[in-house]
Amino acid sequence: MAVNINGIIFKEENLKKVLLSEIKTQTISRSHFFHSMPGGKYLSLLRAGDFVEPSFISHYLEKGMLSLYQLDMINEQDLSDYKQAWSSFKHAKTETEKLKRRDFILKKISNDYWLSDEKSFLTYVIATFEAFYIYPPRVLDHLQSESSLLYTRSLLISAVSSIAALINNYLDYNFIKDLYNTAFILDYGLVDFGNFNFVMSLACEAERNKPGSGLDVLKKYNRSEGEIAIFNNHPLISYERAQEQSEHFTYPEITKFIKFHHEKTDGSGFPKGYSYSALSDAEILLVFCDYLIPFQEHVFKAADGKLIVKDYFEDLKNLDDRYLLPISKMLNSWESCMNWAMNKEEDVA
Ligand SMILES: [Fe+2]
Repeated sequence: MAVNINGIIFKEENLKKVLLSEIKTQTISRSHFFHSMPGGKYLSLLRAGDFVEPSFISHYLEKGMLSLYQLDMINEQDLSDYKQAWSSFKHAKTETEKLKRRDFILKKISNDYWLSDEKSFLTYVIATFEAFYIYPPRVLDHLQSESSLLYTRSLLISAVSSIAALINNYLDYNFIKDLYNTAFILDYGLVDFGNFNFVMSLACEAERNKPGSGLDVLKKYNRSEGEIAIFNNHPLISYERAQEQSEHFTYPEITKFIKFHHEKTDGSGFPKGYSYSALSDAEILLVFCDYLIPFQEHVFKAADGKLIVKDYFEDLKNLDDRYLLPISKMLNSWESCMNWAMNKEEDVA
């Protein structure tokens, strides 16, 4: 019989018992972990995708618990394929070789997350995290402890940015790595002062659905001037946080993109009101990724890959005020690429 815990549906025979002492810490969990209680009930203690702090393990060991039940969310073969593919892309000597590796990754993405409705995107999230992530663990820890919503959203946006870069023919591994880390820290400014509350998440989601409306939400809920200032200035605050890590970037200039991720075609965006003509194609990659992923709690589970790569894409394509965002070209190339990967005869856009 299927069990449903917080939207994670599984059969008990798919659970594996694992010793607490064997769970890896200071990394992203590849599985959901449950405690089995008398009466056949399960309690979710750690979610797939969560950053595993050492204190999580030590707490339960001190309480006398020795083991948990584990539900794997990633496909080990796919993970190995993606890691191998990105490593080959990194070490490819010629442009022809790079294009071959790029095509392999994009075809696999299309098969796994555009066509298939079974696979979890967590596999690709972990493959890219292990390949690209540069920040100290405390950045992950801080983001997760202030807002699990923003934490999982950062994992998704950064993974998606690597796909968007490949689709748009960015073939420099170090550019893609820097873009990944720029995307990861895009909204870090929203938790800088510990102010990411429910209303702030409503404002961010409103802004995503109707560019320009985030501020209206904050005013409607009578939020303080300080909170409104954080919302307005978070691109600049996030940029400052990224700059603190600039020695880890090959091209630290890419972090400047963060400052422009809420600017719009007609110059009505924030914080500066630059117009589309002032933004480069590379900056627009980041805008596309930011608008693709909703501001909502994400639970990694089977089929969430198709939700992200196809369903969220369709939602963005059908956004009422999409004309305010400079992403039409990005949308076309994303769709062309996914269709190309399915129909291998045609050329990628
Ligand atoms: Fe933002």
